[in-house]
Amino acid sequence: MSSFWSWYITILSLANILACVWLIRWTEKKRPGESAAHETTGHSWDGLEEYNKPMPRWWLWLFYISIVFGLIYLALYPGLGSFKGLLGWSQYSAWAEEVESVEERVAPIFSRYAEMPIPELAEHEEAMRTGRRLFGNNCAVCHGADGGGRIGFPNIANNSWQWGGEPEEIRQSILEGRRGNMPALGGALGDDGVEEVAAYVMTLEGRDAPEDLVSQGQERFETQCAACHGPDGTGRQQLGAPDLTDGYWTYGGTLEAIKTSIREGRQGEMPAQEELLGEDRVHLLAAYVYSLSAHERDNEEEEPDSDE
Ligand code: HEC
Ligand code: HEC
Repeated sequence: MSSFWSWYITILSLANILACVWLIRWTEKKRPGESAAHETTGHSWDGLEEYNKPMPRWWLWLFYISIVFGLIYLALYPGLGSFKGLLGWSQYSAWAEEVESVEERVAPIFSRYAEMPIPELAEHEEAMRTGRRLFGNNCAVCHGADGGGRIGFPNIANNSWQWGGEPEEIRQSILEGRRGNMPALGGALGDDGVEEVAAYVMTLEGRDAPEDLVSQGQERFETQCAACHGPDGTGRQQLGAPDLTDGYWTYGGTLEAIKTSIREGRQGEMPAQEELLGEDRVHLLAAYVYSLSAHERDNEEEEPDSDE
């Protein structure tokens, strides 16, 4: 606010209050004497006459009290132009205090959860309800409300992990963030090379592709891709290089999408949450994410038995 408007508002507000004081005193002076108790104002409606009686004292005092209240209020709180008030109150400080008091109330809950191991916490119903809320507020924009992901944002509700699905690895993905780097290989491979290696990638997942392209592509894969995606294409979690054989595609599994991934590269970024949420909330979220894939994990563990 410019200082002109600040002064304009200040002077106008104070002048208004002073005018009220003056008005009250003026009407007080004009109080008709006791003898004039039966004087009328001269107004009359349907034979009803209005007496000119003085305002009761207590009523006048109410006016004075509200004026004093107004002045004290304007001294303590912001109201007179850009004057901040003696208490230094602001919407921001009120909000910050409220956040702090909520934080004080909930911090013990999160720190209690933080002491439980992630797999155990993932079975704790009440904790998981809180986890779902946290996930909805902080993660769902990118990963979807159910963690199912969408183009460019990985599915974290399945048991296919780019950076690792052990509790500690999930926690680290959330706490410190992750940055995948798939280099653009269009230049190195040329159009034919991209065509061939993409055909080979299709077969990794069990899909059909032209025979001659595939055999050329396989050679290229071994020299250009295996270092990161592994010789068999199942990925390398230390590098965040995804499994290309499991049928889950962050950037889309059509031939076109795969060719684009190879030609132009991909740089996904998971933002670190340490600063935003703090370690205790991240611990709870790690447990929640872990719980999303519990179903698939259990099935995989049971598979060897069911095969017998
Ligand atoms: C701005 C979008 C965005 C938000 C918000 C976000 N993520 Fe992510 N997340 C990503 C991207 C993109 C990746 C993949 C990073 C890569 O390509 O290496 C990822 C990766 C992950 C991974 C690793 C997945 C794997 O397969 O190893 C986990 C776990 C994860 N996110 C959990 C979360 C949780 C929990 C939250 C909420 C606190 C969250 N994310 C919020 C974009 C986001
Ligand atoms: C330097 C390591 C590196 C090399 C070399 C590399 N990749 Fe990748 N690739 C990655 C990483 C890391 C990602 C994940 C990118 C992200 O998280 O955004 C990825 C992602 C992909 C994807 C997208 C997967 C999805 O889920 O949508 C495809 C397809 C792919 N790579 C194929 C290849 C092929 C084919 C080659 C060889 C021509 C290759 N990559 C070479 C590291 C590599």
